[in-house]
Amino acid sequence: MERIYLSPPYMGGGEMKYIKEAFDTNWIAPLGPNVNAFEKETGEYLGVPYPLALSSGTAAIHLSLKYLGVGSGDVVFCSSFTFSGSCNAAAYEKAELVFIDSEPETWNMSPIALQKAFDDAEKRGKMPKAVIVVDLYGLSAGWDRIIPICKKYNVPIIEDSAEAFGSRYRGKHCGTLGDLGIMSFNGNKIITTSGGGMVLCKTKEEYDKMLFWATQSRESVPHYEHKEIGYNYRLSNICAGIGRGQLEIIDEKLKRRAAIFRRYKEGFSGTPVHVMPEPEDCEMNHWITVITLDESVKAEPAFICAEMNRQNVETRPAWKPMHMQPVFSGCKSFSHNDDGSFVCEKLFRYGVCLPGGDALTPEQQSFIVENTLRIIGA
Ligand SMILES: Cc1ncc(COP(=O)(O)O)c(C=O)c1O
Repeated sequence: MERIYLSPPYMGGGEMKYIKEAFDTNWIAPLGPNVNAFEKETGEYLGVPYPLALSSGTAAIHLSLKYLGVGSGDVVFCSSFTFSGSCNAAAYEKAELVFIDSEPETWNMSPIALQKAFDDAEKRGKMPKAVIVVDLYGLSAGWDRIIPICKKYNVPIIEDSAEAFGSRYRGKHCGTLGDLGIMSFNGNKIITTSGGGMVLCKTKEEYDKMLFWATQSRESVPHYEHKEIGYNYRLSNICAGIGRGQLEIIDEKLKRRAAIFRRYKEGFSGTPVHVMPEPEDCEMNHWITVITLDESVKAEPAFICAEMNRQNVETRPAWKPMHMQPVFSGCKSFSHNDDGSFVCEKLFRYGVCLPGGDALTPEQQSFIVENTLRIIGA
């Protein structure tokens, strides 16, 4: 049987038209009509005035942190349950990373743990410069509980919506709820540009400054003049062409992924496998379906993934929390639970990501469900 991947790219066909246009007009550069159009079209879809297309979501977080003035020794609060691309950029700037646990309802940043971190920061007399809040696996964070806490301390939020393109929180697009929002268009994301990202800027000033840094901080004089360190972070015109084609089929993609999610729910109902939550105020993009195993199940995620791999199915354990990563072992972290235990550690202990690409067929899905249940002995 053909290998089933976790979240492979799914092309709509329109992508080639924009790539061909770029070739025909010789716009093979990190700027050009596709980049401008991709920004305009994404902005219209998300309802954002100034989206800035970049080479990755990591670059988008990096520039957002710089824009908020994060530098050496500054504190940045980060979601712990996430991919490292979410917080690495704070380390690039030599900031002090502090990791915040998840809440059980949304799997995203716990308002309780966040408040604990702010209490500690107040005691230390060192407030964070920014809080990076993730909308993980297409689930939106509990924004009505997170925003007031950050507002109280006047600390800006970077919303990491790398995995949440197309998700909404109470009708608002994910990526638009923080002070700055970012997207990733990496190959496994719901919309891909093969590699790419975006900062969802709300003002022209934000856009202009981050564009300046993203294009090597060139002063606007005829020769090459630099007063600041810059980066080569702009999205290429070819990649933006892929993004334009992908955006044309976003509704179809969301529909397909929702159907996949429903089928998993049906397939696992009444078994010791729990499908990820669907919080009421979140309209998920169903980027990836994550299951958690009942505590009665003996098999561990790593074993399940290895067994699934033998069946030619790609699965992954849920993200290993950042506060458990050796590279961040010196960082502070705050738990959701009063007894000091972490919700996200449990999610990692019992969570498995299942394939959910747009083209996954019901037959392939039945195969995945049957095999999962067989492996755990259910
Ligand atoms: C939650 C999260 N944040 C940030 C990133 C970084 O995005 P990129 O890979 O485009 O740099 C990713 C994934 O790729 C992610 O999943």
